[in-house]
Amino acid sequence: FVELVFSVRSLKATVLDSNLNIVASEFVHFDTELSHYKTQDGVYRDSSINGRIVSPTSMWVEALDLMLQKLSKSKLDFGKIAAVSGSGQQHGSVYWKTGSSTILSSLDHQKPLLGQLVDAFSIKESPIWMDSSTTAQCRAIEEAVGGGLELSKLTGSRAHERFTGPQIKKIYETQPDVYQNTERISLVSSFVASLLIGAYASIDETDGAGMNLMDIRQRVWSKKVLEATAPGLEEKLGKLAPAYGVAGYVAPYFVKRYNFNEKCLVVQWSGDNPNSLAGLTLNTPGDLAISLGTSDTVFGITSDPQPRLEGHVFPNPVDPESYMVMLVYKNGSLTREDVRNRYAEKSWDTFNKFLQQTPPLNGGKIGFYYKIYIYIYIIIDD
Ligand code: XUL
Repeated sequence: FVELVFSVRSLKATVLDSNLNIVASEFVHFDTELSHYKTQDGVYRDSSINGRIVSPTSMWVEALDLMLQKLSKSKLDFGKIAAVSGSGQQHGSVYWKTGSSTILSSLDHQKPLLGQLVDAFSIKESPIWMDSSTTAQCRAIEEAVGGGLELSKLTGSRAHERFTGPQIKKIYETQPDVYQNTERISLVSSFVASLLIGAYASIDETDGAGMNLMDIRQRVWSKKVLEATAPGLEEKLGKLAPAYGVAGYVAPYFVKRYNFNEKCLVVQWSGDNPNSLAGLTLNTPGDLAISLGTSDTVFGITSDPQPRLEGHVFPNPVDPESYMVMLVYKNGSLTREDVRNRYAEKSWDTFNKFLQQTPPLNGGKIGFYYKIYIYIYIIIDD
């Protein structure tokens, strides 16, 4: 079984045998190994538009090419792989240009993916969860459905800038031609699943709940919110599928190029946080898990969700009867590493030594750290 994890800064692959022992693992670091994209921490921070943060979609395609090359060099027997699945950073979106399903289903196994897919995207830079440029769209969507709490009761969250619905609305409003010329919108998770099956994979019901577009109880797109977001959207989103479902068989491209077995399954991908919940086998209401990543998250499960203005409710990715609840803090690893670099000689050992010098909870003194990016504009006026 192969698990791929598309995070903000890297792609990781872990190959497990049937006893869940790790038999191989590989890593692609975007900034250094795909340095021609010139990303910083895997992203572009756009100084001309406040809060716009995107990643080049092609970089993710090339990362998959590179990862498969690395795995084949490591002498992995692709023919023995029974299933592939993975996790994507949540909320990030990919825009497939009209006609791209044909490209996807007829990939030439003699060539890498990148060159064949470079023109498949109507938007070359995918908005990701760090983006905060859609406040106007958030307020408009909330207003159209009767307020933030109403939207949360329906979709599991009030409107958040990083959620995909507000991001799509911004694209529809600012680049209507591009929106019209998009035949499918994928999340990062369903995007990579699509590459693997050579066709558009469904968005799963759990990662789909991170879009402000899905009715979390019925697990269908909410007509009301779709209308408040952009016209003709349902068709561009395709059908939803349970996170634990099978997306399809691996595409002939991978069978011919890497000798995958043609019966190798691609299991639905989902978001990184939902898959962490699944991987930690959280199944008791009240148990909580903490994930320290580029964002920090706290999550657990409940059978009786009470969507509020704070936090998020998603369908549980492994149990159709219950829900996942989550809090998200955007100032995770980048802020932590910045504090480490400034005060702990860039070393986690030193950082840990400092932590151990005071008892847990530090006598009630707790710090909250935020990194602020300041852009300075110089206007030359003659
Ligand atoms: C969750 C969120 C982040 C990303 C990070 O809502 O925005 O945790 O999933 O990859």
